[in-house]
Amino acid sequence: MLEKGAKIYIAGHRGMVGSAILRKLKSEGFTSLITRTSEDLDLRDDKQVAAFFDTEKPEYVFLAAAKVGGIIANKTYKANFIYDNLKIQNNVIHQSYTYSVKK
Ligand SMILES: NC(=O)c1ccc[n+]([C@@H]2O[C@H](COP(=O)([O-])OP(=O)(O)OC[C@H]3O[C@@H](n4cnc5c(N)ncnc54)[C@H](OP(=O)(O)O)[C@@H]3O)[C@@H](O)[C@H]2O)c1
Repeated sequence: MLEKGAKIYIAGHRGMVGSAILRKLKSEGFTSLITRTSEDLDLRDDKQVAAFFDTEKPEYVFLAAAKVGGIIANKTYKANFIYDNLKIQNNVIHQSYTYSVKK
């Protein structure tokens, strides 16, 4: 059971999945929700992600940020999509580990 005041970072909060998670957490009374747009924090950039975790020290992280395309974009730019998405997941998971995120 998460405490209502737990610091929770929702990565990708403006997206389809992340915005639904944010709405749900707000509706359940969570008060310390942390968000950043991709303009403010590019999750592909390891230095930016490390600095963000060092400043905010979230206790829980929802990872709903990803480069998402339609069928044509996914097929045309396969390597670009996987490269960006592996960077995003690796940076977020590694800093979550480094800063002892609970889940
Ligand atoms: N949609 C579904 O039905 C569904 C179902 C299951 C799983 N998923 C998975 O959930 C994830 C998100 O999907 P979605 O449909 O919610 O995508 P989406 O609506 O396109 O949202 C993706 C979000 O990721 C953020 N983002 C992208 N690149 C970023 C970067 N370099 N740095 C920081 N943030 C970045 C964007 O932030 P900004 O808005 O700030 O630019 C955006 O809000 C994907 O992995 C997808 O495969 C989706």
